[in-house]
Amino acid sequence: MNTPSQEGEGTEAAASPSNTDSWSHYWDSGALTSLADAFQANYQGAVRQHWEALFASLRDGTALLDIGTGNGAVPMIANGVARQRGIRFDLHGMDRARIDPARTVTAERELLDGICFHSDAAAEQMPFPDARFSAVTAQYALEYSDFARTLVEVYRVLAAGGLGSFVIHHPDSTVLKVAREELRHGALIAEIALFDRAEDLVGVLLGAPDTQARKALTGDADAQAARHAFNAAAERMGARIRGSRHPELLQIALDYVVRACKLANGGPASAALSLLEQGRREVSASLARLSDLVRATGDGSRISDIAERARDAGLIVQAPRKLYDEQRRLLGYALRVDKE
Ligand SMILES: C[S@@+](CC[C@H](N)C(=O)[O-])C[C@H]1O[C@@H](n2cnc3c(N)ncnc32)[C@H](O)[C@@H]1O
Repeated sequence: MNTPSQEGEGTEAAASPSNTDSWSHYWDSGALTSLADAFQANYQGAVRQHWEALFASLRDGTALLDIGTGNGAVPMIANGVARQRGIRFDLHGMDRARIDPARTVTAERELLDGICFHSDAAAEQMPFPDARFSAVTAQYALEYSDFARTLVEVYRVLAAGGLGSFVIHHPDSTVLKVAREELRHGALIAEIALFDRAEDLVGVLLGAPDTQARKALTGDADAQAARHAFNAAAERMGARIRGSRHPELLQIALDYVVRACKLANGGPASAALSLLEQGRREVSASLARLSDLVRATGDGSRISDIAERARDAGLIVQAPRKLYDEQRRLLGYALRVDKE
């Protein structure tokens, strides 16, 4: 059993509100995976094979629910396997975020056919009757929820003989290493106040609407100070980008501010300022999702806490397995549970 402190840490952390708005915003972009830099279109490699093996073992007509489905990556894989086998599953995906894959997803759209999505639906309080499903899946999702309550719901909505299959973050996985690095990049962007420095410079440039006025800026001490401050911030960004293996977030932020400064040099004022605002929002939404990811993963004891809660909920729990990709990079845990 858990010590009280482990119990408090696991459940309390998981119960704190996950950043639903930033996920809604993300899924609105039409992405299929929550790890857009790591996978093209839908999940590939070992994670996909893990799911394909499970779906190959399910009977025709199986009712399957995917929790924290995002834009439906997992039920889409299930749909693909069912079609190859010439059978059908009764597929459902639910997410606490606002999702509408039929409108937003462009890749592999044909695999959305027949999947029923439940938007704004929390895993801790599922909108389904008892024993509605024979299989429940979740990929990088169970741990984002208040998993003790979610597992009680999993038990309730599973029919006797049903199964649960979960892919869960591992604190030492590649995904987590990248996430921690990107959070450090976020801290740098905040420390050098990149967007504020860019806004100062954009303000100066917008105050000099013609060539004559812009020339005069070279003799203006305030304008020069704004330029130097922005350049110093951009140089620190550049140095970090050159030294980083995962500079995507830094690059996105830098692109926004550089484009805004170029636009301010003769373009319409509102366009430059709204580009900066858009950049701020995009970077802060990415950081919110990354913090959510690190919080959900927890430390090395999270997986045993989840397994323990699954047992408490009445499920039969197999030992968690580590999932690796073809290059032996750790992708997470696979956890299988069954209802007698
Ligand atoms: C990392 S994403 C995973 C999405 C998808 N399963 C995948 O593998 O790409 C986590 C998802 O869990 C959802 N989520 C977080 N807490 C939840 C909860 N309590 N109930 C339902 N969904 C939740 C988030 O909105 C987000 O879409």
